[in-house]
Amino acid sequence: MFEKQHLTLGEFIIANQDAFQYTSGELSRLLNGIRLAAKVVNHEVNKAGLVDIIGAAGDTNIQGENQQKLDVLANEKFIQTLKNREIVCGIASEEEDDFISINSFDENHQNKYIVLIDPLDGSSNIDVNVSVGTIFSIYRRVTPVGTPVTLEDFLQPGKNQIAAGYIIYGTSTMLVYTTGNGVNGFTLNPALGTFYLSHPDMQYPETGKIYSVNEGNYIHFPQGVKDYIKYCQMEEGDRPYTSRYIGSLVSDFHRNMIKGGIYMYPKSSVAENGKLRLLYECNPMAFLAEQAGGKASDGFGPIMEIVPQELHERVPFFCGSKKMVEKVEEFIQS
Ligand code: AHG
Ligand code: MN
Ligand code: MN
Repeated sequence: MFEKQHLTLGEFIIANQDAFQYTSGELSRLLNGIRLAAKVVNHEVNKAGLVDIIGAAGDTNIQGENQQKLDVLANEKFIQTLKNREIVCGIASEEEDDFISINSFDENHQNKYIVLIDPLDGSSNIDVNVSVGTIFSIYRRVTPVGTPVTLEDFLQPGKNQIAAGYIIYGTSTMLVYTTGNGVNGFTLNPALGTFYLSHPDMQYPETGKIYSVNEGNYIHFPQGVKDYIKYCQMEEGDRPYTSRYIGSLVSDFHRNMIKGGIYMYPKSSVAENGKLRLLYECNPMAFLAEQAGGKASDGFGPIMEIVPQELHERVPFFCGSKKMVEKVEEFIQS
């Protein structure tokens, strides 16, 4: 057995590939691609304050939001890296209007995997030196190998995911992922450019004392959510809870998974499905949460049961410690 501090991500991927039910070598190569892109984007994020590459790029993405240059750059790096490995047949990204089909004119290609990414999550935090992240989600295609991918390959429920994870570009850079066998976290040693296993078998505490929500939207929330927020603030038992909201889902999720807590992005009277995207943000986080013993819900049922209708679909999101998610569901449903 390897010493924890000496086990690198590359070694870990190989050592665990037999536990994976599909052609494991391919998934390992795919994860190695993500590891490489993560290092490249980390380098760019780290120097964001030094060079004049930040700020709005002038484009707006399909959600009508201002794109900042690092979003574009991260998007390019991940897509380039994933395209070049002859494993991925299709990519969909929060920053692209439509999905990308790879090798669609080569009938002999054997690429089986679909990747969905939020290349830069928390982009409003770039200009102010606050942690941002990347979120990824991996599926097997459902259409036959050797044919061009179709929308059907992308619109799979989250329960079909075979791997998911995130990179957090924070005080240190970490890559956290699951292939359905628990959640493991790796920290980048920037001097060596190597990720080391630092957080083996991560577990969401069953309950916690942190709630994360943009309370500026309070008056627009459904009554059940308002009541739950008041419940969090009430002095009773282990309450009041502490409010912590970074505004990068990746960072809020990461903290809550370590300390115990709940992240909420409810629907509101101004955004009927909230803000977060089912395919790029909610499903991968839900897979990680459940693999770590936590829970993810839209207020009424599990996120990963939802059958997506479109690529950029949004969904209300409640995710974190199991008991806390169950509590907010109770409030919403009553
Ligand atoms: P992105 O930067 O990929 O658009 O995602 C931002 C998301 C999420 O990371 C964050 O928690 C949330 O939007 C913040 O939204 P508000 O500013 O509306 O609270
Ligand atoms: Mn995001
Ligand atoms: Mn993004």
